Amino acid sequence: MVGEIKVEGVVKRFQQQNAEEVIALSGIDLRIETGEFVSLIGPSGCGKSTLLRLIAGLNGADEGKLYIDDEEIKKPSYERGLVFQDPMLFPWLSVYDNVAFGLKARNIYKANHAEVQKFIDLVGLSDFSRSYPHQLSGGMAQRASLARALVNHPKVLLLDEPLGALDAFTRMNMQDELIRIWKERGTTMIMVTHDVDEAIYLSDHVIVMTPRPAKIERCIEVQLARPRARNNPEFLSLRSKILEILHFTGTVTEPNYYL
Ligand SMILES: Nc1ncnc2c1ncn2[C@@H]1O[C@H](COP(=O)(O)OP(=O)(O)OP(=O)(O)O)[C@@H](O)[C@H]1O
Ligand SMILES: [Mg+2]
Repeated sequence: MVGEIKVEGVVKRFQQQNAEEVIALSGIDLRIETGEFVSLIGPSGCGKSTLLRLIAGLNGADEGKLYIDDEEIKKPSYERGLVFQDPMLFPWLSVYDNVAFGLKARNIYKANHAEVQKFIDLVGLSDFSRSYPHQLSGGMAQRASLARALVNHPKVLLLDEPLGALDAFTRMNMQDELIRIWKERGTTMIMVTHDVDEAIYLSDHVIVMTPRPAKIERCIEVQLARPRARNNPEFLSLRSKILEILHFTGTVTEPNYYL
């Protein structure tokens, strides 16, 4: 059992500048199985990033507990990799050195240096390992950021709108890349997205959150075989169902609904 996440009765409050309290999460219970691909979807400001940060161990819960493989999450760890919308590469380091950075920081680079090129190859950047971030396209930078997280062999990869800044075409290619990497590595994937199609295309379960204070509104299983066709009738009916839960009612004719 590696990479199972449990969230039990988690409440998270924030104190705002005006001393008002914001309840970001109001009682979240969730279990994500090892090797699952799960998407979190919900209105802006509902607490999705907050939940990812708690799973990452960057923030603590006010109430409730979070576990990875039955061990309580109390601080950040390389076993839980994070990828954000902004690739956040170090501009003064090459792709290779960006990916190697974590291994060097942990003093395990010498024993693992072969891994660096392996993961650069895995994300399709073999010819760019000596390039600098400003020489990369948005999609390539995001691939480098994925390699930087994967080189640590995380049990769980936490993805906070990782494809949000990409054009539609690059985004669809990256979705296929993510599935390929996920199948090859078997890493548990937890991804925040605002794109209903993306959530259905990628996930085993789509978790729909309510407006703040966030609770889990519904967990929808996607049983479609992969690779998935976006125009499959079952795909379309799942899309309508999720949009309805999110209170986007009406006739759905266009692909790609961004919240
Ligand atoms: N560090 C913080 N200090 C104070 N309030 C915060 C902090 N982080 C988040 N919040 C508040 O918690 C709520 C949830 O924020 P969060 O970033 O988790 O939302 P989100 O669902 O990721 O939104 P989006 O879809 O826009 O990224 C918001 O009301 C936000 O103002
Ligand atoms: Mg967010």
